[in-house]
Amino acid sequence: MKEKGRRDFMGMALGGFTALGGLGALYAMKRSWDPLPSVKAAGFTTIDLSAAQENVLNVEKWRGKPIFVLKKSADMTQDERDIVIGSDRFHVSIGLCTHLGCIPAYLPDAKKFKCACHGGEFDTAGHQIFGPPPSPLEIPPFKIEGTTLVLGEEGPEFKKMKDAGLIV
Ligand code: FES
Repeated sequence: MKEKGRRDFMGMALGGFTALGGLGALYAMKRSWDPLPSVKAAGFTTIDLSAAQENVLNVEKWRGKPIFVLKKSADMTQDERDIVIGSDRFHVSIGLCTHLGCIPAYLPDAKKFKCACHGGEFDTAGHQIFGPPPSPLEIPPFKIEGTTLVLGEEGPEFKKMKDAGLIV
């Protein structure tokens, strides 16, 4: 009887250690799957839009991709893909042609983007208007914080566009 009790205790203790070891292994696995803090920080780009000038294209960088930021002038067509901050409207997109990935140039006089590779054109909302591009310029995930745009985070405005089917 005494011997059985000792064996039960040893069994329970061993089971406890095994469970702890298993939890430790799971924790170690999770830590190795999680991105490093430096990688997480690298996923975000903040852009201050307060100094942006109308009809002047700013090209920023996010996750190695060019990002087009264009403050729209009053004569440019308003579009549901515009990012609205106060009374200002912005076109923000990943600056890679949706045909084969060249970087289109912005033509301020014609107020459109032109891709030199195969002649594709996009308007100031990023819609393809000429040539082979099959879809509009892509909008990166964004969040608005005052006059700052945070790229890499899905804010309510981005989710609204996504729900409306405007994100390709
Ligand atoms: S890559 Fe832009 S039109 Fe072909």
